Amino acid sequence: MASFLDEIEPLKQSALVEFRAAPDTAALDQARAGFLGVNGKFTALMKRLGTLPKEEKPAAGKLINAAKIALEAALAERRGELELQAALPKEPTDFTLPGRRRVLGKLHPLTQVTDDIVRSFRKIGFAVADGPEIEDDYHCFDALNTPADHPARDMQDTFYLSPLSAGAGEGAAAAAPGEDRAGKSFLLRTHTSSVQIRVMEKQPPPVRIIVPGRVYRRDNADATHNPTFQQIEGLYVDRGVTVSDLKGTVEFVFRDLMGPDTKIRFRPHYFSYTEPSYEIDFSNALVKKLGKDWLEIAGCGMVHPQVFENVGYDPEVWTGWAFGFGIERIAMIRYGINDIRLFYENDVRFLRQF
Ligand code: DAH
Repeated sequence: MASFLDEIEPLKQSALVEFRAAPDTAALDQARAGFLGVNGKFTALMKRLGTLPKEEKPAAGKLINAAKIALEAALAERRGELELQAALPKEPTDFTLPGRRRVLGKLHPLTQVTDDIVRSFRKIGFAVADGPEIEDDYHCFDALNTPADHPARDMQDTFYLSPLSAGAGEGAAAAAPGEDRAGKSFLLRTHTSSVQIRVMEKQPPPVRIIVPGRVYRRDNADATHNPTFQQIEGLYVDRGVTVSDLKGTVEFVFRDLMGPDTKIRFRPHYFSYTEPSYEIDFSNALVKKLGKDWLEIAGCGMVHPQVFENVGYDPEVWTGWAFGFGIERIAMIRYGINDIRLFYENDVRFLRQF
């Protein structure tokens, strides 16, 4: 049976020659099949192993296995070479061609304005706070002293959510839309003022926060309205805080943001969670450009004692102010944008300008 052992090495050598000569992967596959396929020459040799006398099998098996391993390795190596060759460029590279520039992304104008506002407030010691966009009516309205018959609470004005627990649409015991069995309603927050409550519930005074965030109202989209927009809320609670602190803070931030020629004016107004309440108008060259003397920009006031009671602060000890304004409005004035919807269309030709 010496012939069996003698056949292994020449067969292996001729397989190696063919594998190494294969010009592409298809040819390599074919060569592989010729030796190692079901009807391959090497496979046939392996099958003959079974017919050898018992005492010759171990030596022959060892040899033939080593040969097979060598063939598989040669196959893999050649396949790697061929694949690399296929991946290389077919034409020579011209190193004198100009490079390809990578386009740098930019922050959205609303993000830029928000960052600037936050930076201004940080300079005077305010921290950024956050709260949920899906809110309950207690935090959005009741705790802010907003009465049950206030228009903001109306279905026409607010996105209420279908209750998860109560069997919606089954009538009978089902709660009204947006209400769970305990009588709590869930809604998309209509303002960031709800975060005032969430922060005060969690921490004792003093408080000095701003809250940038998304809010939702059932407005039809037009040049100045959108059903979702961004606000920034501010809240300052300490001993002996007054309206002049409020005015000074707003003036500082708006001058920082909109230029040193910016003027601020307070007009009396009504909000249920502040007393007294004001609307803030501002004026500068940008406003004049729009053909106006003053533009209304924010609501504010001194935190209502009832709101302090609701979060467990003693209104005899603590006073504070709060404000809220729309970020889009500021961005529109700053960049001279006349349609709020441009912010949400994600048209890069628009966004690239900022
Ligand atoms: N939440 C009011 C709005 O969305 C804005 C506002 C007014 C916020 C007065 C306040 C405030 O904190 O004191 O129109």
